Amino acid sequence: MAHSNGGSGGPERAIVAGLITRDGSRTVAEEHLDELAKLVEAAGGTVSAALLAKRPAPDAAMYVGKGKAAEIAELAKRHRATLVVFDDDLSPAQIRNLEKVIECKVIDRSALILDIFARRARSRESRTQVELAQLKYLLPRLTRQWSHLSRQAGGIGTRGVGETQLEIDRRMIRTRISRLDDELEKIEKNRETQRKSRRKAFTVALVGYTNAGKSTLFNQLTRGSAEAVDKLFATLDAKLHKSHFDAPRETVMIDTVGFIRKLPHHLVASFRSTMEEAVSADLVLHVIDGSHPQSDEQREVGDQVLRDLGIPADRVIEVYNKSDRFAVGIGEQKRRHAVALSALTGEGCERLIEMIRDRELSEGEVVNLEIPSSESRLLASLHEVAQIEQQSIDEDRMRFVAWVPDYIRHQFEPFEVGNGDGPTVRKSAVAPADLPIASS
Ligand code: GTP
Repeated sequence: MAHSNGGSGGPERAIVAGLITRDGSRTVAEEHLDELAKLVEAAGGTVSAALLAKRPAPDAAMYVGKGKAAEIAELAKRHRATLVVFDDDLSPAQIRNLEKVIECKVIDRSALILDIFARRARSRESRTQVELAQLKYLLPRLTRQWSHLSRQAGGIGTRGVGETQLEIDRRMIRTRISRLDDELEKIEKNRETQRKSRRKAFTVALVGYTNAGKSTLFNQLTRGSAEAVDKLFATLDAKLHKSHFDAPRETVMIDTVGFIRKLPHHLVASFRSTMEEAVSADLVLHVIDGSHPQSDEQREVGDQVLRDLGIPADRVIEVYNKSDRFAVGIGEQKRRHAVALSALTGEGCERLIEMIRDRELSEGEVVNLEIPSSESRLLASLHEVAQIEQQSIDEDRMRFVAWVPDYIRHQFEPFEVGNGDGPTVRKSAVAPADLPIASS
């Protein structure tokens, strides 16, 4: 969406329109339209009017039907709007028909979301991902009207006889798509290498609906300064920062891109490499705005994305955020893998930190070790990654009772000892809460 409204220089004026279908309620449709209005603002526009049409199903030719389309045309004239945004995906024919009647630009929700992402994309990775999604969205919609003209092309040697401009445009887009695909593959390989180098750390990814408070919580847990604003899709690139709290292992928090209902599927596919950070994280915090009237629907959208990414439920903690704005219900308190908190005030964050610590401790064992003093490398590694509970020296060997994380345990296995009858490992020989905590 353009910043300016033609020559007047102000923000682009838009009308938002949606449907109340047979099985949808007016309240829900209104809330969805409110969200669409926020998306328009996120794209730099202002909303002059909103319109809901009631019909059993979308009209094949004009989505809202001929009568409502004429009404929108009236509204657009009255408000001097230059854009109408529909809450659902429209077919190229619907867009064409509507533009004819309304006489201004018509776009759908997906095009609007892609536009916002394009505005926010900063890094090479997010720019590549957004452009790829935009081109994939555009390709099937590239009709004669969108193309330069269906005139015969005259270039020498580059195109077949009788090829039209439309076909050339399509071919160029396909070539660009495959180039971007290659680029993204390279970026992804790079990311993979970085991820491997982070193996020592316990990683915690924050995911959730846009504006749920992920960046605010990220800042709480890292004392970082990620942009946390009342703005949809403020974060597109995964951000990483060490946690500020003490934990058994070095702990890295990862802020990720937000979700929204009806996220264009090309965008989901393109952002796969960013979301891989969540897929490979040791723990995922699903941040839900507990104060939002559509909190359940937003949680469901998040759950669906997590399922699509193949993240198992037992690796997820549900975080009901903004508890300063809602009465914490029994539901949130009773769920085993859930916590209610306010990322803004910090209330309840200690409980979440405890849950993260517990999770880290559950991925390790307390073992008795006897390591020869000559094994200096191994001893250094033990001091770096383990939580040492007891330590003593016996001639040329060192004895430890230590919590050792699973991922590195194999290195210490040859030196594990039991109480006289062979090597045994005591699970939780030291109560987790009593363990000294390393500084991160
Ligand atoms: P996206 O980048 O769009 O995905 O958003 P996000 O999930 O990172 O949300 P962000 O942290 O930017 O917060 C969105 C808005 O919610 C900001 O205005 C925050 O100040 C506000 N917010 C976050 N946490 C809380 C909270 O616990 N209580 C209240 N009242 N507001 C909060």
